[in-house]
Amino acid sequence: MAKTRTTPEAAAASFGVGKLTRHLFVCTGPDCVDPEVGLETWAYVKRRMKELNLAGADGPAYRTRCSCLRICTGGPIAVVYPEGTWYRGVTPENAERILQEHIIGGRVVPDLCFARNVLPPSTGSL
Ligand code: FES
Repeated sequence: MAKTRTTPEAAAASFGVGKLTRHLFVCTGPDCVDPEVGLETWAYVKRRMKELNLAGADGPAYRTRCSCLRICTGGPIAVVYPEGTWYRGVTPENAERILQEHIIGGRVVPDLCFARNVLPPSTGSL
């Protein structure tokens, strides 16, 4: 059953959209990692982002679980925007490093990063 929300605008505001500085996508498999393992990482990321006050109405970060980032090996795979930093082997322990070093500290975790694709600055507006 679908969750009931007031409006998309209200939902976006409750998640800090407009104040976000980083967006973390985490793949929970099934091809890059066993889904049970991927879900363990996802549960950890959700819990820690809440504990660290990284996600919420004041931002500064957003998290999204996905079912495939098209890498399909070496998972769990994750990517952080706007840097376009792709990470492999995102176990709960490595997720903690990504949260502390990249999401909070703003520094890429070099030994977990396997690809980079910085997105160009936006030229449009809503
Ligand atoms: S299933 Fe995770 S990247 Fe494809």
